[in-house]
Amino acid sequence: MIYVLNGPNLNRLGTREPDIYGKTTYQDLVDMCQTVADDLGASVTIRQTNAEHEMLEWLHAAADEGADVVLNPGAWTHYNIAIRDACAMLRGKLIEVHISNVHQREEFRHHSVISAVATGVIAGLGIDGYRLALEHICR
Ligand code: DQA
Repeated sequence: MIYVLNGPNLNRLGTREPDIYGKTTYQDLVDMCQTVADDLGASVTIRQTNAEHEMLEWLHAAADEGADVVLNPGAWTHYNIAIRDACAMLRGKLIEVHISNVHQREEFRHHSVISAVATGVIAGLGIDGYRLALEHICR
């Protein structure tokens, strides 16, 4: 099982700052990830939460399973050490994905506390970043 996990505010895709995040809705993102996984013959579970404890529980379960994770931690990227510590427990691959190019944006988005424990990072390619992450994991 591959987990695609999305953090806070990503359920608002489509209406949230469309100039930055595009007009694709969260449901479109879910459908795209499912289609990509089906084409790759992979099993995927796609989730979003605004609650830190829920994300931590999902990461713990992925760690226990040794599963690969595609994670867009949203704003948690920049400050959440508990999420980072849970990411450090993962035994499979961890691909950190950002829809926007965080390095082109405000200074506080330039640093990720997650990247040092990630296998790799994709930023600025829109929702295509999720497809690339899934393809990499399945390669
Ligand atoms: C984001 C970038 C973060 O800085 C921001 O807080 C988000 C989304 C992205 O996908 O570009 O919520 O992770």
